[in-house]
Formats: sequence, structure tokens, C-alpha cells
Amino acid sequence: MAVYQIKIPSCMYAGEGSIEKICEIIAREQAKSILVFTDPGIRATGLLKLLTEQLDAAGVAYRVFDDLKAEPAYTDVERVVAQAEAFAGDLIVALGGGSVMDAAKLTAVLYHAPYTIRDLLENPAQACRQMKSVMIPTTCGTGAEATCNAIVAIPEEQSKKGIVNDNMIPDYVILDAQMIRRLPKAIVAATGVDALAHVVECFTSKKATPLSDTYAKAGAELIFGNIRRAYEDPDDMEAKSWMLLGAYYGGVAITASGTTAVHALSYPLGGRYHIAHGVSNAILFAHVMEFNMEACQEQLARLSDAVNPGIARKSTQEKAKYLIDEIADIVRVTEIPTDLVRFGVKREDLDFLVDAGSRQTRLLVNNRRELSLTDIRSIYEKVLR
Ligand SMILES: NC(=O)c1ccc[n+]([C@@H]2O[C@H](COP(=O)([O-])OP(=O)(O)OC[C@H]3O[C@@H](n4cnc5c(N)ncnc54)[C@H](O)[C@@H]3O)[C@@H](O)[C@H]2O)c1
Ligand SMILES: [Zn+2]
Repeated sequence: MAVYQIKIPSCMYAGEGSIEKICEIIAREQAKSILVFTDPGIRATGLLKLLTEQLDAAGVAYRVFDDLKAEPAYTDVERVVAQAEAFAGDLIVALGGGSVMDAAKLTAVLYHAPYTIRDLLENPAQACRQMKSVMIPTTCGTGAEATCNAIVAIPEEQSKKGIVNDNMIPDYVILDAQMIRRLPKAIVAATGVDALAHVVECFTSKKATPLSDTYAKAGAELIFGNIRRAYEDPDDMEAKSWMLLGAYYGGVAITASGTTAVHALSYPLGGRYHIAHGVSNAILFAHVMEFNMEACQEQLARLSDAVNPGIARKSTQEKAKYLIDEIADIVRVTEIPTDLVRFGVKREDLDFLVDAGSRQTRLLVNNRRELSLTDIRSIYEKVLR
């Protein structure tokens, strides 16, 4: 068997109330001055106060940077890094969804570094850790708290790009379900389906290994089993805690194996039409898996067995089909808008989509079934109906 590996954050805390552990981290790191990253939406929820109360209690200096919009462009990150560099900090704490965490992770490698984000877009290998980081996710999807990736929009290409380097794997993670208690239902749905896409894509990825499979399978059990509950009942804290853990497992799986064609084809939808990351994945998810079915039937069937042991007697094909039907059903019951026309996408945009989607080779190479330009076109055609 080929050599394989996994890299994960060195220390993680989970459970309601685990935000308190930030004091332990600060003591362990002997941090004196914290760079706190968040965004205006999160600040408005009052969640930031849960963190700053702890920082006040720990007696550390801190500065809050919330000048970030959702799904930032690399130029937004450039601006926030410059703001951060004006403050002498020794630990980064990110409180937010994937957008905030990605900006914070990039700051952790760009802070007073001899290279810029533009350099990293050209050559991500030069990224080195300049400061340790703590991630506190407030959505239940991206798994960015665990991954070695940061995704930024590239406005001039009307697409998005991942900067990938192991030095961006965060040092600490705090999964406190309080952070997603009041998360709007639509964001629970979109980010939850994003997490679901991570685990299914990673499990069916060409680069999957026994280590990534372990995380992807555990994540799939948690997310398939809890996403409907977490969506329907905002106060179901048990379901929400499991969603956070499942999303984290998805992030670990991404770092070990990588996502595939769902994420690849969704980037142009985010980059040009600003469709939220989880929504664009949800639109494509079942269609791409149907296309992939002939190449990953066995993997999809194994995931079905994990998710629903009740179907053990069914054939491999039936089990694989069951998983794809479950995905489509989850997208339906969580009321994620899937009508691309509503987002301003037109049939005449097909050429752009096919071209931009086919350029996402970093992820397309992971897809078990190779996609020709005609295949890519026919998948986009399905969702443009
Ligand atoms: N680095 C990775 O491995 C990775 C993986 C997947 C996606 N991503 C990236 O992450 C970004 C998407 O992140 P996301 O889906 O977590 O959403 P997000 O961070 O963009 O947040 C979406 C919105 O939700 C609000 N919000 C966040 N938490 C909230 C809360 N608890 N209560 C109320 N509002 C809240 C934010 O203010 C924002 O307006 C995209 O840019 C995507 O490309 C990164
Ligand atoms: Zn994703």
C-alpha cells in the first residue's frame, strides 16, 4: 500500500461552553496580544462578546478586525493583513465562518512575511507560519478550522482559487455549539450541505486513503444523521454539536484527500454570480454524484452502509443510489434555492461556466470519473433548466 499521511490541528476542544478554553490556550502560548478576526454579521449577533469576555478575564490586549465581507477577494485579505500588521500581536483568534477563518489563516502566514498574497496565488509553497492561530467556527460547514486551504475570490477571473499549504493548518480549534445556536436557518442549510459535500467528495476522491476515509465516514454519519434536525429545530443543541464535529471531520478529510468535481464546478458560480459557497455546492451536488456513480458506486455504497445500516441487504447499486437520493432530499428539505436563474445565471453563460469550471484542475484531478468539456457542459445544463 502507498505511503499516506494526515495532518491535523495540534489541539482541539469541543462541547458547549468550550469557548472558555481560550484562556487555557492563551496561558499555554504565553500570548500577550491577540488579533481577533470576525465580521460585521457575527459582531451583530453578540457572539463576539462571548469571546472578548474571556479575553478580558485573561487580561490580554486584543484588537478586533471585522472589516471583512463574506467570501472575500484576495484584495480584501490584502487590506485586512495590512490593518493587522499595524498592531503588534502574538496570537490570531478567528471567530467566524469560512470567510473569516480563511482570512485569519492567510494572515497567520502573511503577517510581516517577505511575500504577499499575490505571490502565494502564484506559488503557495512559500507560505510559512508567522504566528499561531485559534479557530472558532460560527457556521457548521467549511471545516476551514482544520484545513490547509484558504479560498479567495479572484474578481478579474470571476472565479475563486484555493491557496494550499500545510503551514495554514490552524494550531487550535474550539467547537462550541453555542456559536451556531442562532445561526440563521438558511446558513445552517447551506453550510451543512457544504460539509456534507466535503465528506462525500473526500470519500469518493481518487486521493482517498484509509486515514481520510475514517474522518470522511465519521463526518458523513454525523452530518447525514443530524442535518435535518439541526435545520428544523434551532434549539436542538445536540444535533448542532454533532454538525460542528462532522464539519470539522470534513475539514480533516479535505486536508488528507481533497474535494472533487462538485467543488470544482461550483467555484465559477461563487466567483461570478456570488452564490454562497454552500448553495452553489448544493445546486451541483446530486448531479455530479449521479455522473460519478459509475466510477464510485462501491465508495457511495460503503458510505450508505455507514449512514443507514438498515439497507445492508440492498445491492451495491441500490445503496449508491440511496445515498444520492438522500443528498437530493436533504437539499430539498433544507429549502436551499437551486434555481440558477434566480441568481442571474443565463443559458448564454454556459460557455463561461464550462471554461471556468474546467480550469479547476486542482480538484478535477481528484474526481474518480474524468470529466470532458462535454460532460462539464451537460452537468451545468442540468442545473440551468
Ligand atoms: N478553507 C477551506 O478549507 C474552505 C472550505 C470550504 C469553504 N471555504 C470558504 O469559506 C467561505 C464560506 O464560509 P461559510 O459558508 O462558513 O460562510 P461565511 O463565513 O461566508 O458566512 C456567511 C454569512 O454568515 C454570517 N454568519 C456567520 N456565522 C454566523 C452566526 N453564528 N450567526 C449569524 N450569522 C453568522 C456571516 O456574517 C456572513 O454574512 C467561502 O469563501 C468558501 O470558499 C473554505
Ligand atoms: Zn466547501
